[in-house]
Amino acid sequence: MNSPTKSPTQRPGPKPERWGTRVGLVLAVAGNAVGLGNFLRFPAQAAQNGGGAFLIPYLISFLLMGLPLLWVEWAIGRHGGQYGHHASPGMFARMGRGSWLKYVGVFGLFTNLTVAAYYCYIESWTLAYVWHSLIGTFTHTPATTFFPEYLGTTNPSITAVPYEAACWFVGTLALNTWILSRGLVKGIELAAKIGMPMLLLFGVVLAINGLTLGPGDPGVVESPLVGLNFVWMPQTSGLWNPSTWLAAAGQVFFTLSVGMGSIHCYAAYLRERDDIALNATTAGAVNEFVEVVLGSAILIPIATAYLGLNLVQAATAGGSGFDLAFLTLPTLFNQWGAFGPIACAMWFGLLFFAGITSSLAMGQPVVAFLQDEFKARRGAAAGVFGLSTLVLGMMCVILYPGGTFDEFDFWTGTFSLIIFAFAEVIIFGWIFGIEKGWAEINRGADLKLPGFFKYVIKYVTPTFIGVVLLGALIKPSGGWGDALSALLHTGRWPFAPGSVIGKVFHVGETQSWFDPAGQVTRVFVEDLTRVVLITVFVLIALLVRKAWAGKSITHDQQEGPRL
Ligand code: PHE
Repeated sequence: MNSPTKSPTQRPGPKPERWGTRVGLVLAVAGNAVGLGNFLRFPAQAAQNGGGAFLIPYLISFLLMGLPLLWVEWAIGRHGGQYGHHASPGMFARMGRGSWLKYVGVFGLFTNLTVAAYYCYIESWTLAYVWHSLIGTFTHTPATTFFPEYLGTTNPSITAVPYEAACWFVGTLALNTWILSRGLVKGIELAAKIGMPMLLLFGVVLAINGLTLGPGDPGVVESPLVGLNFVWMPQTSGLWNPSTWLAAAGQVFFTLSVGMGSIHCYAAYLRERDDIALNATTAGAVNEFVEVVLGSAILIPIATAYLGLNLVQAATAGGSGFDLAFLTLPTLFNQWGAFGPIACAMWFGLLFFAGITSSLAMGQPVVAFLQDEFKARRGAAAGVFGLSTLVLGMMCVILYPGGTFDEFDFWTGTFSLIIFAFAEVIIFGWIFGIEKGWAEINRGADLKLPGFFKYVIKYVTPTFIGVVLLGALIKPSGGWGDALSALLHTGRWPFAPGSVIGKVFHVGETQSWFDPAGQVTRVFVEDLTRVVLITVFVLIALLVRKAWAGKSITHDQQEGPRL
């Protein structure tokens, strides 16, 4: 019996945690979504995929995939929360009768933990950069010199030993752990209440200062509006390019935090009849506003003003935005005179607030899982999260030049999201059942959702994600048309090195694990990272199995929701 509407049984035990206020809830979920993805990844992805040509696939992906996934995740989360489950294994166990369902939920812990490992590393750079901006480091040392030294990547080696970066990383993790240990209201909600307004304030100040740069200002070679226009002017050309669609869909996943298990967790702290339709839609809209309006109004326009559009596009190769943000911008702020170091600190402060309200959202599912299923104390659970991210993150720190960081980003921050989202939308529409699912989404709703979304969730979203998944698996090197004709003529499909299959088989890689001198290569580090990631997944699956081993099925199924 899955429906929480039948015979609720009051269970003894500690009162379940809840969000404090609606404002706090909305800020926390907006803080969850608004992250480094909005300010670094979005502008870089847009610039790499033809600016305005990216926009239409992006917005369509948001409407047909992102928004429906948000509602589905909120519904799964609130439903699971009524049974005392705030992490995805327990929630998925409640979606149907199959005992395998809880293992789908493993993704919801795995992705959060592993993304947190490298995400917190970037977050720690932002904190370090705030400090260095304030003490004026970038007024005498160009960031192009500072950053590689900071990361410890100045020597051509596959390992790095960056003492300073490691210290900031440990500090960042300690801060995350401490906030998580304070609980939902005094920790996450409070952090969002401070972080989100600060982020908006810094963002608006920087956008105004950047967009009003003019030809009279020292160093300005182009109007910043050229940069803004480049991102904002919709062009239909992207519609016909599958790679643009893949990039757009990937960005929608990452920026909305869907396919992670983190939205589910936040929604699980709602009451049975609390609204989700309006909350989820508002959080999605706030994220899109911050992403498309603020996210494109800082990095690209300021860099365009001083460097010109062509250089900016070149600097976003790879699509992460790191080069522009950490190498280029700090030096450009020097043109702003006395305000320069403050503007620079604001930029990295903004990134830090964006980052921490997101990394807390990655931590909470892990904390909740240990609390719910192993009765761990909150502080201990937060400590486990902090230590595991430390261990995994240190791999990213030390093996950064060897490619561990990028492997984490691809497998956990991109590929896993698609798999989990594909599975969850099918489970929701077809196993839980769309009628029940739609009722769940609309129970207590403060916003009437158009009925046709019921069909979108059942048919369109899964098909959409299925196509994205296929595209990610077989993305060709070069154009899709050329690849098709190659297939017809030679019987071979030219997998791109960046496709999933291309990565698994190291397509285009000439080296093997060891170089002629017997030293391990990047290929070795990549494979090692993959083995570590698979091991983490299996360990979490074993923990889930252990947690459920103690629960008798009949007892678990008879047990009503805890309200
Ligand atoms: N959405 C966040 C961003 O844009 C990243 C994130 C992913 C946060 C998953 C929480 C969970 O940066």
